[in-house]
Amino acid sequence: MSSEMVDLDDLEVLDVDRSGMVQLLLDFPEQMQAGERLGQSAELPMAANARAIVVAGLGGSAIGGDLLRSYLSQDCRVPICVNRHYILPAFVGPETLVCVISYSGNTEETLSAFAEARSRGAKVLAITGGGQLAEMATQARVPLITVPGGMPPRATLGYLFTPLLVVLTRLGLVPDQHEAIAETVELLRELAAQYRPGVESFRNPPKELARRLYGRWPAVYGVQDFSDVVAYRWRTQFNENSKVLAAHHVFPELNHNEVVGWSGSNSLSNDVWVVMLRDHQEMDRIAQRIEITKSLLQEKAAGITEVWAQGRSRLARTFSLLYMGDFTSYYLALLYGVDPSPVRVIDLLKERLATTA
Ligand code: F6R
Repeated sequence: MSSEMVDLDDLEVLDVDRSGMVQLLLDFPEQMQAGERLGQSAELPMAANARAIVVAGLGGSAIGGDLLRSYLSQDCRVPICVNRHYILPAFVGPETLVCVISYSGNTEETLSAFAEARSRGAKVLAITGGGQLAEMATQARVPLITVPGGMPPRATLGYLFTPLLVVLTRLGLVPDQHEAIAETVELLRELAAQYRPGVESFRNPPKELARRLYGRWPAVYGVQDFSDVVAYRWRTQFNENSKVLAAHHVFPELNHNEVVGWSGSNSLSNDVWVVMLRDHQEMDRIAQRIEITKSLLQEKAAGITEVWAQGRSRLARTFSLLYMGDFTSYYLALLYGVDPSPVRVIDLLKERLATTA
């Protein structure tokens, strides 16, 4: 397969990126900074005494909630859960903060969750780029954060995640995050300079990794409550940007099931390239598990690449891993000759559902 591979260092390859996904990737640090400002100026829901936080959304609008849950697992004094469904869990009531996020503002599951949160008397915050959610929130006089519109939802993570984090700090539910956000923005700017298309493959890790993944199945392994959601983000970015199937799993859980899948006799595993998301601060026991798992997979997988988190704060380390995945999925799209931005299958599904309403 590699003989047919296009040359990522020939900038004509960017012609396939007709909607300009690369600029959105490069702008991610600025988006995060703008997201912090949006969170600082937002009207707050009356939720300082909330006993639980629910983030309601789907796809690219839900992942910010997942990242929040994972990132704050040791720091938030109330549970955070993510709801990707029309209906909310039974515990949601007046003492719950429900953050309803839909970038388009028109995702029917999310609109249904908004209506349900209201009818249960929950404290509600809406984050959207417009659409019906903006209208419903305005009509209900619910605090609303409006983010710039016109982008693919998954490329607006800086606008959807950061205000949410800042709102929780302003409510006193988690410690101040300004320093961590500043470090993350700075680090992502440095990484953007290293990962941009003008930097040749031998000095550009996501280009190099995309070449390894070309013609193979990517499987991304993260670590619970640190890079678990990042591994999922890599997978969904491979799906939506590169238009390929991908798998993900999480340590230590994968040592109790998935690892057995590698021990079988079929040869399909030979086409799987494993990406391990590593962190210099991972628990010793987790590091030992990863090393043993690597030794078990070595002979079976097409290959294993370790990607190490960079930066000091937990936030910077998390987003350094995520950013590498975003760029890798982008370069893999270019290798396959597909435009990273459109997600026609999702659009088609939404259209067909609309006609059966
Ligand atoms: C990501 C994407 C989808 C949407 C999802 C929900 O780019 O296209 O995952 O995020 O279909 O739509 P929104 O985010 O508009 O509520």
